[in-house]
Amino acid sequence: MKNIVILISGGGSNMAAIVRAAQRDDWARAYGAQVRAVISNRADAGGLTFAREQGIAAEVVDHKQFAGREAFDEALAAAIDRHQPALVVLAGFMRILTPAFVGRYQGRLLNIHPSLLPAFPGLHTHQRAIAAGCRFAGATVHQVTAELDHGPILEQAVVPILPDDTAATLAARVLAQEHQIYPRAIARLLPTL
Ligand code: GAR
Repeated sequence: MKNIVILISGGGSNMAAIVRAAQRDDWARAYGAQVRAVISNRADAGGLTFAREQGIAAEVVDHKQFAGREAFDEALAAAIDRHQPALVVLAGFMRILTPAFVGRYQGRLLNIHPSLLPAFPGLHTHQRAIAAGCRFAGATVHQVTAELDHGPILEQAVVPILPDDTAATLAARVLAQEHQIYPRAIARLLPTL
């Protein structure tokens, strides 16, 4: 079985969309793949409850328990590797990862970012797109490389920015698209792993 491990920090709506797509499209039968575990760096991440309800292993590796990034990433990698992952999926995982961690999962580490990369890497993407006067925004699924929010692009979705948009209304419009493109990107990648 190709095991998928999903990393979250918050609500986990992208994670839930992936889990639902795996159920709906029977990824076990179609690709010999399963969502094996959900790991959060925050114990209060809402997505952990959903994962447990689905019978998926849900674990916490709390970054605050570690002296630095290297130590946290080593503990995180150990937790991930216990599930023998074919694919590691960052889904609203709000930690910067060390080059060693990224290198360990090279080619099988994905991220979703709420902008049309290479525009607006980093935080506050929706506010920045509105402030720049962009007419369109969107989301990007990409392979993770050592450089933050870079790496080969697998999927993108575009949405309009409307005249009365706030960061919150735009974020909601983009998030609905994220839920479409992230499962699709994973389903396209699984046969190659
Ligand atoms: C999503 O919009 C995702 O693109 C973004 O966080 C949100 C998580 O929502 N990720 C980043 O900003 C990564 N830099 P979710 O927890 O409901 O999936």
